[in-house]
Amino acid sequence: MKDSLDELFEKVMKVKIFVNRDILRPDYIPNDLPHRETQILRLAETLVPVLKKSRPSNVFIYGMTGTGKTAVTKYVLNRIDIEGRKKGISLNIAYINCRHDDTNYRVLANLCETINAKVPFTGLSISELFRRFVKALDTKDRIMFVVLDEVDALVKKSGDRVLYDLTRINNQLTNAKVAIIGITNDLNFTEYLDPRVRSSLGEEELVFPPYNAVELEDILKQRADKAFVEGAISPEVIKLCAAIAAKEHGDARRALDLLRVAGEIAEREGADRVVEEHVRKAQKELEKDRVVEVIRSMPFHSKLLILSIYLIEKEKGRGHTTGEIYEVYSNIVKNFGLEPLTQRRISDLINELDMLGIVNTKIVSRGRYGRSKIASLIVPYTHIKESLKEDPRMNSFL
Ligand SMILES: Nc1ncnc2c1ncn2[C@@H]1O[C@H](COP(=O)(O)OP(=O)(O)OP(=O)(O)O)[C@@H](O)[C@H]1O
Ligand SMILES: [Mg+2]
Repeated sequence: MKDSLDELFEKVMKVKIFVNRDILRPDYIPNDLPHRETQILRLAETLVPVLKKSRPSNVFIYGMTGTGKTAVTKYVLNRIDIEGRKKGISLNIAYINCRHDDTNYRVLANLCETINAKVPFTGLSISELFRRFVKALDTKDRIMFVVLDEVDALVKKSGDRVLYDLTRINNQLTNAKVAIIGITNDLNFTEYLDPRVRSSLGEEELVFPPYNAVELEDILKQRADKAFVEGAISPEVIKLCAAIAAKEHGDARRALDLLRVAGEIAEREGADRVVEEHVRKAQKELEKDRVVEVIRSMPFHSKLLILSIYLIEKEKGRGHTTGEIYEVYSNIVKNFGLEPLTQRRISDLINELDMLGIVNTKIVSRGRYGRSKIASLIVPYTHIKESLKEDPRMNSFL
């Protein structure tokens, strides 16, 4: 007898939406990157001296999230690597994601690993580690590319010590040479840098502008052709994904996520093709993921603040003054056995929540009481609960 799971299995097997959904994942690097020809060429021009054994300039790459910085850099380095091998040039490429390796130690240990220099996981001082790296590197006549992707994460967490050392390393080398490629989507980040580091890191600068809707459409088309079964996707669906992502800020990752999730929803529903409604649902799902992720990674007091606004709205509806919110917040904080932040600080945190699109604030005039700021949550309560419930103490309030 067939049970409901048999039916589900059958349904899933019958419909086929994807040929290969991995092609839509963010870490897949296509062979062809439409609308990045200029950046590809500029980066290649900067790095190409390596094929004549000269040290290329350091490059600093910046642009908003999802504008192809990582994809282009990996693509160009890969091509240079292939060309270098053909010419018998000794080339090392260290690709470091600084959001993952966010300490000076880990960055240096990673560099040592790339050139097979053995170092302990922990225990050496940074200067000793650096000294060993320099020594091991200089045993050969070679050029090393050091890619520091999302380099802002390293600097914010651990300062610019390693960057400083690396931008000066060539003075200490006689045989080997090092070129650095720094990548960031945080345009204000260079303010954190020592001016000397800033200028040597930015010998060349490369800006990646956001994509517009038409460009995103081309990018999606190219990936969709390989990812979906023929007929499972229509130009209208691609257009819609591109339009939504362009309206946000021209983020190709976002556009690809929309398309992938829309496909997954269609598959789950047993549809034989993706339609616009699936894209709308995907948009909601992704928005929820975004909000939950943003709230989860917030400091504890910001979470308590969100909890406070949530609780007061549950009881009395939307739109309360900073003062009213502060009162609820203070009570909750005391319940947790903590000291409340000052009202001034909470007011700043409310502004931050506004910028992140979690609350909406407006100034209202209250006659002779003067003007005050009113805040309301603008994300669905289910998202708030989802984000906060992990903490058992907060969960008891929900
Ligand atoms: N021109 C393009 N053609 C095809 N795919 C692209 C293009 N630009 C970006 N992508 C794809 O979009 C996604 C995001 O690109 P990428 O990871 O390079 O962004 P990024 O600029 O490094 O963003 P972040 O600052 O968040 O790290 C990847 O899946 C990438 O393959
Ligand atoms: Mg990137």
